[in-house]
Amino acid sequence: MDGNGRWAESRGLDVAEGHRAGSRALRPIVETAIDVGVGSLAVYAFSTENWTRSPDEVASLMQIFGETIDRELHDLAKEGVHTRFVGRRDRAPDWLRDKMAELEQATENERTLHLWIAFDYGGRAEIVEAARRATASGAEIDEETFAQFLYAPEMPDPDLVIRTSGELRLSNFLLWQSAYSEYVFTDTLWPDFGPDEFRAAIEDYAGRRRRFGGR
Ligand code: IPE
Ligand code: MG
Repeated sequence: MDGNGRWAESRGLDVAEGHRAGSRALRPIVETAIDVGVGSLAVYAFSTENWTRSPDEVASLMQIFGETIDRELHDLAKEGVHTRFVGRRDRAPDWLRDKMAELEQATENERTLHLWIAFDYGGRAEIVEAARRATASGAEIDEETFAQFLYAPEMPDPDLVIRTSGELRLSNFLLWQSAYSEYVFTDTLWPDFGPDEFRAAIEDYAGRRRRFGGR
């Protein structure tokens, strides 16, 4: 979900207003995912590298995550949305960690759509952590057993990854899981990314032939 800062800047607004606008863009996308029958949607909300932003920006992001949980995600639970957070938990403020755990618990039986929110998430950190735990377990390691040590082993590998805001890179998102994902890149800034463009990306994906290295 990239481009909040540029969205704010182009309007002469504070960066926090960009993040707030970005947080409002999530719900229509989740609802569209439900409409088109997407079963699993993962969003990249905050990376392990985002802690290096100014303390002001980090604080406003934490505030907005909390507001989004309160304002949107509990509501979405009524539409059958099961939410899980993927990433480190130990660095979030206590009050936010509590909200995250509470939402996960409240939605654990929902099945219409699985929403995975990558928070304090980094693909490399995830793989290193998994390697550590795999080694400690003494298990015989192959790709399948290794994947069981990732943050959310039950999360399906993404079929399609959409990157907003014109950046043509992965930025440490689901490195292990996206080995064979299809990509759609769009110049649209995340706060402006709406249902029509989301549907168009899915249609684009539907027209591709995936070979997974075969012929
Ligand atoms: C993405 O928007 C949101 C987070 C990283 C939390 P950015 O803040 O990265 O927006 P740009 O890249 O500055 O436009
Ligand atoms: Mg960015």
